[in-house]
Amino acid sequence: MGENNHKDQKPISYEKSNKPIFSSYASSSSSSPCSFTAIIIILIFLSYFLYSFSFISFLNPYSPSRIPNSLLVPVIRLGSGQRPEEKTELKHVVFGIAASSDLWRHRKQYVKTWWRPNGEMKGAVWLDVSVNDSVSSPSSPLPQIKISSDTSSFKYRHRNGHRSAIRITRIVSETVRMLNGTESEKDVRWVVMCDDDTVFFPDNLIRILRKYDHKQFYYIGAPSESHLQNLHQFSYGMAYGGGGFAISYPLAKVLEKMQDRCIERYSDLYGSDDRIHACMAELGVPLTRENGFHQFDVYGNLLGLLSVHPQTPIVSMHHLDVVEPIFPKTDRVSAIKRLMIPAKLDSASLFQQSICYDTSRQWTMSIAWGYTVHITRTYMPARMMEMPTRTFNDWHKRRDFTNLAFNTRPITYTDCQRPRVFYLSRVLNDSSSDMTLSEYLRHNEWNPKCNWGIQDPSDINRIFVYKKPNPDRWNKAPRRDCCRVVPTTKKGTMVINVAPCANDEIVAYSDK
Ligand SMILES: *[C@@H]1O[C@H](CO)[C@@H](O)[C@H](O)[C@H]1NC(C)=O
Ligand SMILES: *[C@@H]1O[C@H](CO)[C@@H](O)[C@H](O)[C@H]1NC(C)=O
Ligand SMILES: *[C@@H]1O[C@H](CO)[C@@H](O)[C@H](O)[C@H]1NC(C)=O
Repeated sequence: MGENNHKDQKPISYEKSNKPIFSSYASSSSSSPCSFTAIIIILIFLSYFLYSFSFISFLNPYSPSRIPNSLLVPVIRLGSGQRPEEKTELKHVVFGIAASSDLWRHRKQYVKTWWRPNGEMKGAVWLDVSVNDSVSSPSSPLPQIKISSDTSSFKYRHRNGHRSAIRITRIVSETVRMLNGTESEKDVRWVVMCDDDTVFFPDNLIRILRKYDHKQFYYIGAPSESHLQNLHQFSYGMAYGGGGFAISYPLAKVLEKMQDRCIERYSDLYGSDDRIHACMAELGVPLTRENGFHQFDVYGNLLGLLSVHPQTPIVSMHHLDVVEPIFPKTDRVSAIKRLMIPAKLDSASLFQQSICYDTSRQWTMSIAWGYTVHITRTYMPARMMEMPTRTFNDWHKRRDFTNLAFNTRPITYTDCQRPRVFYLSRVLNDSSSDMTLSEYLRHNEWNPKCNWGIQDPSDINRIFVYKKPNPDRWNKAPRRDCCRVVPTTKKGTMVINVAPCANDEIVAYSDK
């Protein structure tokens, strides 16, 4: 088994010992079919080339053979002479944060956890009426405050909703008007909307936006976790406002032109984000779904959801006042502040899962980097471990998992398999090894008796995880990291290395 290959006591990087835990070395194919394939490909390519050449000559009286070389040259120069466009950075984004004066004193604590002052970020908090502490300077830990313009002339006819939805939906237009003609407008590529109880991971937001051409029309976000919300009240095609969404600037400008008239046509809608969706539908722009935006229409403990994040960078979290603090025995804001430390050291890998087995003890290890480690007795297959456990309740408080828009599983099937959960306590940048070292401490919970004769994971109190930061991971095809347990003699302690998987590495307890 893999762990036994590691004789070193000291945690080491995968680069130094790149033997995968389980290798299935496929025999390399012999050369003759390979060269045959190459010939076929060359033949196809050649015939295609000849075909397109004759096709152009046939249609075009100025076929390439008749055009003098001097005319062809500038065309080539144009292509190679263009400067590659600057990659999207935070300075290209302007945020519109929807807030209200009565909750701002509390909610601004969330905004402070992710907002970067001194001009690193652009944007504003939009309030209904002004608050006392709205004096803002560039070094202020919060964005500038703007007061939304009056919306009393707009119709609002939803029976259960609140007409502040109109004010909030218009933040996109008001942001465009705020920027119009200013120096900073030249830089703006994206308008990003969110609520005052949304927390962003700005580096990951940029990782997502970089995938798209900001000069085209994009509306990027995610639907709700609640199937019924998506089905009845809202839509699977809608970006939920609390999870946040991004609109490319050219699209925001077109929206600005039509939004006020558009929302008058939808006075019977409930919220601000469904009004945006209605106008996007009129413009014919669909939702580009990115699963890192989290509306979190759930109650209770996010543990199950956040411990198996989809394989995409986490962009946002919402409803932080609705769910329990994401770390136990602390308040909500402090919990987010703790999370921002791993988010700074290796944002691309925050919450990313890796799964491995401790074969000497028959345990399954699941790591959500920067957040938790789970130890479960017996070997649980990867396909199960990558499914969120139901530590939370659905949005209608029915404990009904058919109301969730994704697969989940029970926390445990037997008492013996109830996982032990270790939460991040500290993380630091270990400059001597170029790695991050994160520490996770066991959280005492109900610990049922088990007669399986498998060692109790509660014997472990503290887990150390070594991992090299991997800022470029999302420039490649998504793949889970691999982990392995490193032998240690220290009692009650476990040491784990996390790294990209070797090419043919698999997560399996037996390769038979
Ligand atoms: C807010 O402003 C009002 C009017 O200027 C003032 O009376 C009040 O004391 C201020 N409150 C706080 C908390 O500063
Ligand atoms: C932007 O400013 C120009 C010049 O003042 C004005 O003509 C135009 O209507 C403005 N556009 C928007 C969207 O506010
Ligand atoms: C971590 O340490 C490395 C090497 O010492 C350094 O290059 C990097 O900037 C540090 N990262 C952070 C977030 O401090």
